Amino acid sequence: MKRAVCPGSFDPITYGHMDIIERAAQQFDHVVVAVLENRTKSSLFTVAERISMISVVVAKFPNVSVDSWSGLLVDYCKSNSIQAIVKGLRAVTDFDYELQMAQVNLQGSGVETMFMATAPAHSFLSSSLVKELAHYNGDVSTMVPPSINEALKLRIAGK
Ligand code: PNS
Repeated sequence: MKRAVCPGSFDPITYGHMDIIERAAQQFDHVVVAVLENRTKSSLFTVAERISMISVVVAKFPNVSVDSWSGLLVDYCKSNSIQAIVKGLRAVTDFDYELQMAQVNLQGSGVETMFMATAPAHSFLSSSLVKELAHYNGDVSTMVPPSINEALKLRIAGK
C-alpha cells in the first residue's frame, strides 16, 4: 500500500491545499493530511481547530485522513509507514525553501518528497494572504471552502 503525507500548517486550509490533497489522493492508496508546527509562524487557529476544520472539507475524499504531529516530519513518516511527502509548488519563490527541506528530509531518513505544480488558478494563494484579507473584511470566498470562511469570520470577530 502506497501512503503519502501532505504536511503543512494549514492555518487555515485553502482551495490551493485541497487541490494538492485531491490530486495526491489520485496517485496514492492513502493520503494523510498532517498538521505540523511551523516554528517560524504564529497561528490563528489551534491544531485541534485546524484538524476539525480540515476533516470537514476532506470528508469527500475516501482515502484521505487527518492527523497532527509535533516533531519532525520524517519521524511521523517512519512511525506511520509513509513513503512519500507531497508538497505543492506555487512559484519559483517556494522552490529554495522546499528544496532545502526535501533534501534534509531525504538525507535524514530516505523519505522522498514529491512536488506537484499548483493549479494556475491557485498559484497566488496562501494561508497568510487569506488571513490578511479576512482580517480587513476582504472577500476570501473564492479561496477557501464556505465552512473555513465562516470559521475565519468568527475568529476575526473575536469569537
Ligand atoms: O504550510 P507550511 O507552514 O509551509 O508547512 C511547513 C511544515 C509544517 C511542513 C514544516 O515546517 C515542517 O515539516 N515542520 C515540522 C518539523 C520538520 O520536520 N522540519 C523540517 C526539518 S528541515
